[in-house]
Amino acid sequence: MKSRRALGRSTHHPFHLPWLGAGDLTDNELSADDVVRKTGWVFNNETGDDLTLKEFVETGDKEVRLFMRLLRLEEFPTETSSLVEIGSGIGRMTAAFTQRFRKVTACDVDSAFLERCRQTVAKFGRIDRLVTSHVADGKSLSITDNSADMAFSYITLQHCETRDALSLVGEAIRVTKPGGVVVLNFRTWVKGDVLLVPLGFLVRSMWRMPVVGGSLSRWRWSTRLGWQANRLKPDIVLAEFANKLDKIQIFHSAKRSLTVTAKSEFDLLPTNRINPSHWWLVAQVS
Ligand SMILES: C[S@@+](CC[C@H](N)C(=O)[O-])C[C@H]1O[C@@H](n2cnc3c(N)ncnc32)[C@H](O)[C@@H]1O
Repeated sequence: MKSRRALGRSTHHPFHLPWLGAGDLTDNELSADDVVRKTGWVFNNETGDDLTLKEFVETGDKEVRLFMRLLRLEEFPTETSSLVEIGSGIGRMTAAFTQRFRKVTACDVDSAFLERCRQTVAKFGRIDRLVTSHVADGKSLSITDNSADMAFSYITLQHCETRDALSLVGEAIRVTKPGGVVVLNFRTWVKGDVLLVPLGFLVRSMWRMPVVGGSLSRWRWSTRLGWQANRLKPDIVLAEFANKLDKIQIFHSAKRSLTVTAKSEFDLLPTNRINPSHWWLVAQVS
């Protein structure tokens, strides 16, 4: 089968290549379990010949429960609310979201992932509550203003080019109703990044090379390095968006300190069980 890139259905943006490569694989008549085995590493690093879609989705169920609790969202009236998930992949967490929210719009840069997401939700979630939306340019959502009660993104913004990541933050705010909540996960600097980030830049440049570039963008070692795309500190995000937000909370790992000097009002909340390289922005849209 011709790849969707060869058919001209996707962009040539280097940041999108590993996802589109994995998406091509999911197009190739693999069973849902094969998709997880062959591309599971793309999503949560749980590799293994035996990993099934069911087990993969169970990791998403657990994380939805965990983050609703850690990020103090347990009181959120999910049953009457709509959620936009940015970077849904094949629906690892989407299935659990459809069990909680009245309506879920799953968005992803790869359209084949969205087809698989529908299958995942049909099997493990509530398909009557799911809508999918392709993020064709990797930076804007085809969703109307003020239409969602919550916008959520996990391990996605770190893989985008910095400007695209910031654009998607703006989009999350745009599509969320005033009084609604954005729940966005970012990756910030850790010591290992001194090596990882330049290596990521190098690998992404190699993805553009003729002939070898295509394979490189599918190999696990290469994609894991290449997707190390950006590190966004809270100050950068708040400088651009704090004026559109209220009740800003920044959750980060209790194992490390996180310096935030933004002038806006915010609560800095060291929390157990958050990855030390991650932080979360949870805020109400003004
Ligand atoms: C590591 S996966 C995480 C998937 C899901 N959030 C989860 O936790 O299982 C990152 C996802 O983000 C998507 N993605 C990467 N860049 C994107 C962009 N610019 N716009 C929308 N989705 C993007 C990828 O296609 C992939 O499905």
